[in-house]
Amino acid sequence: MTWEELETRCMACQGCSLADTRTNVVFGVGNRQADVLFIGEGPGEQEDLQGEPFVGPAGQFLDVMLSVIDLRRSNVYIANIVKCRPPKNRDPLNLEQDACIGYLRAQTALIRPKIIVCLGRIAATRIIDKDFRITRQHGQWFERAGVHMTALYHPSALLRDPTKRPETFVDLKSLQEKIRELCPDTFSQVF
Ligand code: URA
Repeated sequence: MTWEELETRCMACQGCSLADTRTNVVFGVGNRQADVLFIGEGPGEQEDLQGEPFVGPAGQFLDVMLSVIDLRRSNVYIANIVKCRPPKNRDPLNLEQDACIGYLRAQTALIRPKIIVCLGRIAATRIIDKDFRITRQHGQWFERAGVHMTALYHPSALLRDPTKRPETFVDLKSLQEKIRELCPDTFSQVF
């Protein structure tokens, strides 16, 4: 499938009841040739209104996290487990995740990232391990089919609880090291 086919299909999706309450489908954003793929949970209010991932308060904090390791949005690709906003920002139901995960799978197949960074528990349990414990396992590295994966605390969690930020700083430095090792060109893509 091409990007265009995938995006067209996703934008018209009626695969679960989130389609009834969404304003916009939030497909994904960034560099389609990126070596690093960030995966969040699902759109919040601002993302639903603007049709782009991580543009609300959590997104502003994600930009800070990226800048700590000299990354910008244009160096990476950013997508979510579910493409439509769960009402009142509740966790996406398994049924909704199941209905939507094929889009992320297809995006991942097109991007072929070397590194996947899960943002928060929902993405980590879906992508890395169903029993993933974010408090104990954030920053650890996993490898599957040649793809290196890690999870960070979700930027919303870091906004709510600043005491978690020093641990995330360490995790970000580990990510920076991994990028230097596996895909150093990531840092030189300036636009
Ligand atoms: N939180 C997420 O997990 N994803 C977004 O796109 C915005 C907030």
